[in-house]
Amino acid sequence: METKLVQIGKGGAFTCEDEAYLREAAEIIKKGGLVAFPTETVYGLGGDALNPDSSRKIYAAKGRPSDNPLIVHICRFEDIRRIVSRLPESAVRIADAFWPGPLTMILPKSRAVPRETTGGLDTVAVRFPSHPVARKLIEYSGGYIAAPSANASGRPSPTLARYVAEDMDGRIDMIIDGGEVGIGLESTIIDLTVEPPRILRPGYVTREMLDGILEKTDIDVTIIKPDSGQAPKAPGMKYRHYAPRGRLVIVEGPPEQVIAYINRQVEEDRGKGEKTGVIGTTEVLEQYQADVVKCIGNREAEEDIARNLFSVLRELDEEKVESIYSESFPSKGLGQAIMNRLLKAAGHRIVRLPADENGTCINARESSKTNHHNESDGRTIK
Ligand code: TXA
Ligand code: MG
Repeated sequence: METKLVQIGKGGAFTCEDEAYLREAAEIIKKGGLVAFPTETVYGLGGDALNPDSSRKIYAAKGRPSDNPLIVHICRFEDIRRIVSRLPESAVRIADAFWPGPLTMILPKSRAVPRETTGGLDTVAVRFPSHPVARKLIEYSGGYIAAPSANASGRPSPTLARYVAEDMDGRIDMIIDGGEVGIGLESTIIDLTVEPPRILRPGYVTREMLDGILEKTDIDVTIIKPDSGQAPKAPGMKYRHYAPRGRLVIVEGPPEQVIAYINRQVEEDRGKGEKTGVIGTTEVLEQYQADVVKCIGNREAEEDIARNLFSVLRELDEEKVESIYSESFPSKGLGQAIMNRLLKAAGHRIVRLPADENGTCINARESSKTNHHNESDGRTIK
């Protein structure tokens, strides 16, 4: 299949040409085809959410296991009523506060939503994105677009159309290039089918922000304790995800020790003939001696770090880096989402410094007890 690539909204307001492309994309979706499009979080791979064949095609294009449900995207709050069987008051409050925006709610599904879209579950994930291209496309396509992130299964979510093309060229009908996304990490997922509501995936809308709207929220234990041995409630969270092709290790500790440790490891890996890379912050970037040093942003600018994370992982792949070390970040606020994705990308390999008196790193756990399934091939990485 030939994948058509179009650019939309580059100059701000939509032009007549943009409108024509959006109508063409909507026709593709209505006829059961697939179109990748920008949202404020990451690029999505869209198909008609109410058409089981479209959902099957999405799984096939991504190489995604069909037990991993898709998010249904809407463009008007009222449209949620057709796809859920119950709308709790908490959902209305959350929508008032955060929609349109980077938040997904899990609710009991109605009969209108095929099980192919929900991975066989009785619940449905609903999101109302704020990106103007996404909103128009949803509206023109009939109101309900199922869209996972537009990466091949297991790869970092795409923040640029170029990355979508890397994974999806020849597998889908169209890619809409709307420039770089704003947030760079996927939406926060909150499950409203349980009491108190539970965060299943951390994102730009933080627990602190949700606590300001709801009396109480829980957080899926597997996010705080990846080695709890429990299965995450969002099926997609069990997979090793976002993974670069190289071996990624996170190093946590006082900055000078982190830099010294990473430089020692880099030296050692280079001795083995490996191409080495570092993910570091602006403040200390010059001190790293790896072959490829990638700047993830300023330590104080969490939003930049969030936006750069997935592209940095892809760039390290492009440069065929085999051994990668990354600084660690505080797990508070948006940092919780950043560390959640980074830990998954690293298969939970984290070294915690300082070293003990023998010079051995304490708590240097290699994936600990959790099983991480590789989404693409079902491998278990221990
Ligand atoms: O920001 C985002 O949410 C992006 C953009 C494109 O909207 N989409 C996205 O979709 O990240 P995806 O498919 O890559 O991630 C959806 C996550 C998966 O972990 C999936 O298991 C979970 O949502 N999920 C979907 N429906 C669910 C349900 N009914 N119950 C629990 N988890 C669900
Ligand atoms: Mg995804």
